[in-house]
Amino acid sequence: MQVQEKITKILDIINYSADLLKQKNIKNARLNAELLMGYVLKCDRLKLYMDFDKPLNESERNEFKKLLLRRLSNEPLQYITGETEFYGYKIKVDNRVLIPRQETEILVEEILKEIDSGENQKIKIFEIGTGSGCISIALARELEKKSKDYEITSIDISQDAINLALENVELNKLNSNKTKFLNESVFDLNYDLNEYNFIISNPPYISKNDFENLDSEVKDYEPSVALTDNGDGFKFYEKIFSIANNLKKGSFIFCELSFNSKEKIEELLQKFNIKNYNFTKDLSGIDRVLKINI
Ligand SMILES: C[S@@+](CC[C@H](N)C(=O)[O-])C[C@H]1O[C@@H](n2cnc3c(N)ncnc32)[C@H](O)[C@@H]1O
Repeated sequence: MQVQEKITKILDIINYSADLLKQKNIKNARLNAELLMGYVLKCDRLKLYMDFDKPLNESERNEFKKLLLRRLSNEPLQYITGETEFYGYKIKVDNRVLIPRQETEILVEEILKEIDSGENQKIKIFEIGTGSGCISIALARELEKKSKDYEITSIDISQDAINLALENVELNKLNSNKTKFLNESVFDLNYDLNEYNFIISNPPYISKNDFENLDSEVKDYEPSVALTDNGDGFKFYEKIFSIANNLKKGSFIFCELSFNSKEKIEELLQKFNIKNYNFTKDLSGIDRVLKINI
């Protein structure tokens, strides 16, 4: 009787699940267990704490068990719950797209800083590799808040990603006259980028070799086309830098960078005779964002 009671209460199920997740080396095991429970009970963690002594009914228990098994087999939490937060905005995610990373918010922040300090002209942004659309959507929402005149064109080689990005446009109630999401490859562009003043990208930057060593949670679940360029990890930067000389004066390129890539990036910048640039570090001191002034 006591055992039965123990495993039906919210707190006991969370403790038990957190132990299982920990044994599987899943980071933030307890938080994962709480977030899954919150998802099943459709409540936030505060409400969970207040209800710790309550038992789950049978259907809630079955639902929780199903989700816990998915998490135990390394499926990312965000794919299970179907959403994440990026720059304070809700973004739908599933295995069609990369899960937006916290460090990518720095890219958004740096672009907005530049916009705030620049002239009040129309802002025309071209994003390469939009995935869930998180960067373009966060920028659009922020620019709307600032009452800026803007237009954003975002491309991705994956039609699946574009479909999900469009769902996120709707979820975030964006003005669809000002945003375009297109299924295109940067290596086969039909655009005159000369009309844009911001070319931005968080490209696939994991090399073919490093891809093999990624954690199962990433390698087995997130789309490989979003992670690796199947080469040395610099193919996209090379392509983007090669466009630089065709852009109009006064425009900018902003790219997210991988860990430890600054030296090789500087070699490439030199190769394309790009001289006016700087790096911004993330909270761990990694050079994370490259800004090029054209
Ligand atoms: C690292 S993910 C970035 C996704 C999203 N912008 C973010 O920051 O979370 C890179 C994206 O580039 C897309 N991609 C890969 N190859 C591409 C190509 N040749 N042209 C355009 N997009 C491409 C992938 O499908 C993926 O969505």
